[in-house]
Amino acid sequence: MSTSRQLGRTGVQVSALGIGTWAWGDKLFWGYGDRYGETDVEEAFQASVSAGITFFDTAEVYGTGESERLLGRFCKTTSSPLQIATKFGPLPWRFTKASVLEAIEASLSRLQMDSIALYQVHWPFSFLLSQPTLFEALAEGVQRGWIQSVGVSNYNEQQMQNAHDSLASFGIPLAVNQVRYSLVTRQIEQQGLLARSRQLGVTLLAYSPLAQGLLTGKYTAQNLPQGARRLDPRFNAKGLTKLAPVLDALKQSAEAHDKTLGQVALNWLIQQENVIPIPGAKNARQAQENAGAIGWALTPDEVEALEQVSRPYLH
Ligand SMILES: NC(=O)c1ccc[n+]([C@@H]2O[C@H](COP(=O)([O-])OP(=O)(O)OC[C@H]3O[C@@H](n4cnc5c(N)ncnc54)[C@H](OP(=O)(O)O)[C@@H]3O)[C@@H](O)[C@H]2O)c1
Repeated sequence: MSTSRQLGRTGVQVSALGIGTWAWGDKLFWGYGDRYGETDVEEAFQASVSAGITFFDTAEVYGTGESERLLGRFCKTTSSPLQIATKFGPLPWRFTKASVLEAIEASLSRLQMDSIALYQVHWPFSFLLSQPTLFEALAEGVQRGWIQSVGVSNYNEQQMQNAHDSLASFGIPLAVNQVRYSLVTRQIEQQGLLARSRQLGVTLLAYSPLAQGLLTGKYTAQNLPQGARRLDPRFNAKGLTKLAPVLDALKQSAEAHDKTLGQVALNWLIQQENVIPIPGAKNARQAQENAGAIGWALTPDEVEALEQVSRPYLH
């Protein structure tokens, strides 16, 4: 199995697994600075690069810029070729083309880079900035050489189609749609988004691919995470009971391949045509383990068994 992938029809090549950096610098949701800190996430960065995972996903809103700043600093410590993706927040006070270009420049400055592999629109909000104007500005970002490809995030099927068409009028392919996708969040299959993305040649970046740690099997009613995840019903007693058959199936394949449950959950996503998972990692151990999700493959029967056992999560 190849360990690199193309982003859509863009020619931009990235590793077949990415790494998400929302938790790097984010205090509010993840508790950065309390339960883990800069040394841990720098070690996660180094471990990923050493393992050949070179595709990093950040956003200007993560830690209000701190994730981009940290990633920029870490990137200076290696000569390995890296692919960096960040995201634009379509906020109400950004309603001109110039404001989009300023946001790209500000991200590049925090990242200490002249150009990045991928720039994504974080949410399909329009407010006063119309989608056509937004995509015209992004096309200009490509023409200026600041961004090598353009993606969207959290766009539904129709919104993705419109984004694809807007960019096509500038001769630019839509590279990715970054959406929540895992064995326990499969709504995109039901909603037609997965099928349409394949048709359009748009790569899906699967965010929260470990269901924020649940699919590693480490969380139980007696061992719940600290912080905001305690409010997520998937982490309560009913949610954990529903999850049990999926964890059992993950365990079976994990034992057969001498892998962990999380590695199997990520490998299942990689087996879906056109999908690149971007698991978050807070330390070297997690980054190393997640990197072990590539370089091997579940059998077709195992892929099918996981598909069947996770059907309650299609809706
Ligand atoms: N576009 C969007 O709207 C959007 C939304 C959400 C996320 N994202 C992107 O997707 C990335 C990943 O999503 P996510 O962070 O929400 O969820 P995730 O990747 O499913 O889960 C990440 C969390 O799981 C735990 N974990 C990771 N690897 C582990 C391992 N090997 N063993 C045990 N625990 C492990 C860690 O938390 P603990 O150690 O605390 O359990 C880690 O912070 C983000 O960083 C971000 O780049 C994008």
